[in-house]
Amino acid sequence: APAPTPDAAEAQNLADLRAQLAACENCPLHRDATQTVCGAGPTNARLMIVAEQPGDQEDLAGAPLVGPAGRVFDEALRRVGCARDDIYVTNAVKHFKFTLKGKRRIHAKPSAGEIDICSWWLRREVELVRPKIIVAMGASALRGLTGETLPVRESRGKLIELAEGRRLLTTTHPAYLLRLQDEQEKRLAWRAFLDDLAQAAQLAA
Ligand code: URA
Repeated sequence: APAPTPDAAEAQNLADLRAQLAACENCPLHRDATQTVCGAGPTNARLMIVAEQPGDQEDLAGAPLVGPAGRVFDEALRRVGCARDDIYVTNAVKHFKFTLKGKRRIHAKPSAGEIDICSWWLRREVELVRPKIIVAMGASALRGLTGETLPVRESRGKLIELAEGRRLLTTTHPAYLLRLQDEQEKRLAWRAFLDDLAQAAQLAA
């Protein structure tokens, strides 16, 4: 991995981090994206949610999880009775990666290398927010947080103990719920997603 942005180590708060992140050129993804999308939420949030990377709408809005996957996430929060305002929401990768299909920008999966380079920023967010519990939504988030590629199928619903009494819970990415076609499969996946978010909310309380 390349050296982090030199003055980023100095960031003492999220506002500084956001400003430094805006200038990040640590990997080539900054070239085609509109802007970096930093995490959003209270500095002292007890629950941190990590998704994959901004999509088309997030790239334009400069805010995480505001597009279709974000709407699934919001619906899930509503169903477990959790306020988004209390949560710090961020992504493993801070720039939108896409391929062009005509004029449409189609989400492209970030590589392990891109996730690893960007994990430097994610770690700083964790250090500044100091959440009690972190939820990794999907394999990219899990890689960003652990440095390992682990199958979500085997990790979901399980708690991992991190430093400083912090815990990590893995769940599926909301976009996965959107893709499922089979009704039965979809119902089970929704149930599991809601169970995971409810568990995380309870552990954050
Ligand atoms: N998908 C993500 O993983 N994060 C976003 O912010 C939007 C879509």
